[in-house]
Amino acid sequence: MTSIALAANGIDYTYPGEVRALKQLDLTIEKGQRLAILGANGSGKTTLLLHLNGTLRPSAGRILIDGRPLSYDRRSLVALRSRVGLVLQEPDDQLFSANVYQDVSFGPLNLGLSEAATRSRIDAALEALRISHLRDRATHMLSFGQKKRVAIAGMLAMQPEILILDEPTAGLDPHGVNHLLSVLHRLHETGTTLVFSTHDVDLAYTWADQIAVFADGTVLKQGEAAAMLADRELLRTARLKMPLILEIAEALYCRRPAWAAIGPPRSKDALLHLLEQTIGGPQ
Ligand SMILES: Nc1ncnc2c1ncn2[C@@H]1O[C@H](COP(=O)(O)OP(=O)(O)O)[C@@H](O)[C@H]1O
Ligand SMILES: [Mg+2]
Repeated sequence: MTSIALAANGIDYTYPGEVRALKQLDLTIEKGQRLAILGANGSGKTTLLLHLNGTLRPSAGRILIDGRPLSYDRRSLVALRSRVGLVLQEPDDQLFSANVYQDVSFGPLNLGLSEAATRSRIDAALEALRISHLRDRATHMLSFGQKKRVAIAGMLAMQPEILILDEPTAGLDPHGVNHLLSVLHRLHETGTTLVFSTHDVDLAYTWADQIAVFADGTVLKQGEAAAMLADRELLRTARLKMPLILEIAEALYCRRPAWAAIGPPRSKDALLHLLEQTIGGPQ
């Protein structure tokens, strides 16, 4: 049986000025999964993520943690944020200390750990993001990619059970994206639940176990990644396209219907394998 870590039940949220950003939204985050919140710009992804760590409070509906409704008093929010870490899209919105070490130490210092435990967490987080050499640098002097790593290190140092990242690959170069994905891969392997928002269908397809497809402030459908992204009607409604790997695989299956039984390739290598069979295999 899967266990649910965090959930949104029928939440609504309206920004000042009557902007109705979330409408009757349901979402479940199961322990240990990698969940992509996939939707076009302006569909409400950031607004939802801000609800999952209690920054915003729904105008209707509830956020549940371990099946219990979230309370919004200071103590409950501090407890929530030690378990659920949110990395904002813009590192400038997240970083506020003078230097890198101070920024990464902010969270663990507030957890009431010993000095030695705090230091070892900070060192491990800096090491994981390969930014140990930046520890004494002024935060505001860093590049976007470096700031992003500092923001993620700050969350890692908290050792959250659930790490939520808002558009984590936006603005990173290809090397930065690969590095980020390898960090996330290691985290997932050691049991951290990952939630990330994106409008990148290819990233969601190759990286997520589950996808919640977003449009106009609500989750249209949540389920297994390949099933969500093979649903053309769903993608059209959400103003998204099919991932390239899946698009090519569908074209191949049209030529060789028997191969559809293999199931959709989930990586470039699996697709290449299929293509090699097409070229070399019997008609
Ligand atoms: N601070 C704000 N004040 C008023 N409206 C906002 C604010 N932030 C976002 N919105 C509106 O809420 C909707 C959802 O935005 P957002 O959650 O940022 O979407 P996404 O992250 O999917 O791009 C949009 O219509 C956006 O214009
Ligand atoms: Mg956003």
